Amino acid sequence: MAPSITLVYISLSGNTQSFVKRLKAYLESKTSLPIKTINVKDLVKEQEDFFAMTDYYVAFLPTYLEGGNGLDSGDVEILTTPLRDFIAFADNYRYCYGIVGSGNKNFNNQYCLTAKQYSEAFGFPMLDDFELRGLTDDVERIGEKILKLYAAA
Ligand SMILES: Cc1cc2nc3c(=O)[nH]c(=O)nc-3n(C[C@H](O)[C@H](O)[C@H](O)COP(=O)(O)O)c2cc1C
Repeated sequence: MAPSITLVYISLSGNTQSFVKRLKAYLESKTSLPIKTINVKDLVKEQEDFFAMTDYYVAFLPTYLEGGNGLDSGDVEILTTPLRDFIAFADNYRYCYGIVGSGNKNFNNQYCLTAKQYSEAFGFPMLDDFELRGLTDDVERIGEKILKLYAAA
């Protein structure tokens, strides 16, 4: 059994932060493992150095793309690249159980595209997705997946 559950995320306008907060509360109601959260935006803001992860974690990534249509034209990740850099730092990608994407379905084929791209680039699974702040159903479904991942460890 892992010593703790760690949720690593970035949030620019607060939706992912809200989801992670509710997910943490859900997990705390289901397990006695401590739940740690790491907001990569805070690390950057406080100019803290990135560090090597030694515990397994699940990553949460909202989608911010400029240009492209998600199919046949290029798209550029904006604003969320510090999470990419954190995962790429040291061997951090090896400790990632998987990534949960979030976005807005109005973006059609670009819905949650960046999480899919991270999954391909780093070789960990895309575990799930949710829209905007996510619904209670999303919190519970994703929470149960995370509990299974840590229980199997
Ligand atoms: C400039 C901009 C670009 C966005 N691009 C996408 C996109 O390509 N695909 C998508 O699914 N959502 C896109 N979104 C929606 C955000 O991913 C969504 O609002 C998300 O919940 C923001 O998370 P945050 O509040 O934690 O930063 C975009 C939002 C903005 C403001």
